[in-house]
Amino acid sequence: MLQSNNVDQARIAALLRTRSVGRALRLLGQCRSTNDEALAWARAGAPHGAVLIADGQSAGRGRLGRTWHSPPGENLYFSTVLRPPLSPRAAPPLALVAAVAVAETARAFGAAPDLKWPNDLLLDGRKAAGILCELLARPPPAERVDAVVVGIGVNLNGHAFPEELATRATSLALVTGAAIDREAFVATLCERLEAWHDRLVADGPAPVVAAWKGFARLLGRAVSVDNGRERITGVAEDLDAEGALLVRRADGVLLRVFAGELSPGPT
Ligand code: BTN
Repeated sequence: MLQSNNVDQARIAALLRTRSVGRALRLLGQCRSTNDEALAWARAGAPHGAVLIADGQSAGRGRLGRTWHSPPGENLYFSTVLRPPLSPRAAPPLALVAAVAVAETARAFGAAPDLKWPNDLLLDGRKAAGILCELLARPPPAERVDAVVVGIGVNLNGHAFPEELATRATSLALVTGAAIDREAFVATLCERLEAWHDRLVADGPAPVVAAWKGFARLLGRAVSVDNGRERITGVAEDLDAEGALLVRRADGVLLRVFAGELSPGPT
């Protein structure tokens, strides 16, 4: 299972400007899911900021039980183990930390990212990155989370997608017209993750919520959200500190939406 990964570990180490995120680094060839590997590493004592990257995934996992298209050699499949001094109730903004970190990294590589709630990174209206956070709790009465595994998939250099994704997915290379340096991308991503993690711990969720809103083009627009049970339509008014979307319905009622699939419109 641990075949070669053509990401250069020594180059990442040379480029890294962090204290914790990426300092412990494991590169795998093909694995099932970097989140599964990182959860196992977290249970075995991985330090805060440990990062695991695979060249490809055979069972990459997305939100809502979906799979994540993970061909080898061209993209980034990245999971980090964060151990913030936060209670499980205060942990949800870590997903916003990850989204803002990925968006800032994509911007540093020449793209103009749009964050679509809850955490899709879009380029030119198509999905280029997704985030899957998984929490390891401690048994009560512990007040702090044990770890949160933040899984990030970024289409860096992919040029072709399976038919079912062809009209919905893109990559950084496709939109910028330039091949993306994976090691440099990883080093910048680690740096932005560390900066926003530390900011969340020091100052609470308001700064990262504000940064997230700065990337979110659908805020203030008419939207619909399919939460699996019903379709909610209204105006995407705001994002709250837990990452819930606040949707104002036509009848004036403000709904907090915690999960679902967001679409623009009805137009
Ligand atoms: C989504 O948008 O549905 C979330 C996709 C998350 C994919 C990444 S790839 C690295 C990590 N390992 C996984 O199995 N999933 C996440």
